[in-house]
Amino acid sequence: MTDSRTRQERAADPVTVLGLGAMGTALAGALLAGGHDVTVWNRTAARAEPLVARGARAAATVEEAVTASPLVIVCVLDDDAVHQTLGPVTPALADRALVNLTNGTPAQARATSAWATGHGAHYVDGGIMAIPPMIGHPGATVLYSGDQAAFATHRETLERFGAATFLGTDPGAAALHDLALLSGMYGMLGGFLHAVAMVGTEGGKAAEFTSALLIPWLNTMMTALPEYARQIDAGETGGHDSNLAMQSVGYVNLIEGSRAQGLRTDLIEPMRNLIDRAVAEGKGGEDLQGLVPLITAGPPAA
Ligand SMILES: NC(=O)c1ccc[n+]([C@@H]2O[C@H](COP(=O)([O-])OP(=O)(O)OC[C@H]3O[C@@H](n4cnc5c(N)ncnc54)[C@H](OP(=O)(O)O)[C@@H]3O)[C@@H](O)[C@H]2O)c1
Repeated sequence: MTDSRTRQERAADPVTVLGLGAMGTALAGALLAGGHDVTVWNRTAARAEPLVARGARAAATVEEAVTASPLVIVCVLDDDAVHQTLGPVTPALADRALVNLTNGTPAQARATSAWATGHGAHYVDGGIMAIPPMIGHPGATVLYSGDQAAFATHRETLERFGAATFLGTDPGAAALHDLALLSGMYGMLGGFLHAVAMVGTEGGKAAEFTSALLIPWLNTMMTALPEYARQIDAGETGGHDSNLAMQSVGYVNLIEGSRAQGLRTDLIEPMRNLIDRAVAEGKGGEDLQGLVPLITAGPPAA
């Protein structure tokens, strides 16, 4: 599937986008802005109209959309929607590069890869690390894994969305790293939401608190992560600076202080539960890095 043409020569390569929700619309828009010949399809046909006004061609059926381009991008709600969309048109998938940017699990990516490859498609799975307004702008990254030749052939087209990072031929790798990055994001956002709610109980403004105090504090804490990560890779559990026994006592203040301000504590309780469990298992002398083996061990027996 190698393609020796220049970037300019590939500029108008036909691309199909299936799924025109907020993200699919942004993806198709970036392709149009890049000069591609874009065919679109959406279950609810009216959502194609703004893109048609910008020069896209709306296909009447999924089959027509898939056969219109050698590169087919699918970005729908979930894995079930991918199969409901493509299941009835499997003969059309042969020899297409199918890039699935629908959020899913590594197992779903591997199963969809085997299914699509079995129908002759060149399958690449992807994880979009951006929100729709970021697509096509600096800061957007999309993770890919799967068919390396298909990725290489269409790389320049895929870079219309943002930086394209290929993580290997295991089709599940992009989803694994996508979910890992999302867990980092939700952890940070959960802390942010609880923090602004707490300051707000006494009239503090979220915007001022966030710029003046929270972002500098989080940036400072971020500088500790490489050393934590090194220790985790080395199997070291810390125990030098902030031991878990101390943190388990201090965390009570976070919970009780929040309750006293009238707040729900849903966002902050899970970390406390894990710290307390570690202390109960005799790990009170370790640092937070010592929680990783507890997480890796899986959920406690019911
Ligand atoms: N938006 C984000 O910030 C963001 C960021 C990263 C990744 N993603 C991922 O991108 C994917 C799309 O997200 P989105 O923001 O575009 O969602 P959305 O705005 O809610 O749109 C959902 C899309 O899925 C389609 N769909 C749902 N069920 C379907 C089915 N059974 N058969 C066919 N099509 C179906 C919808 O079609 P109808 O119009 O007919 O309902 C619509 O095109 C998701 O997997 C999401 O996790 C989104």
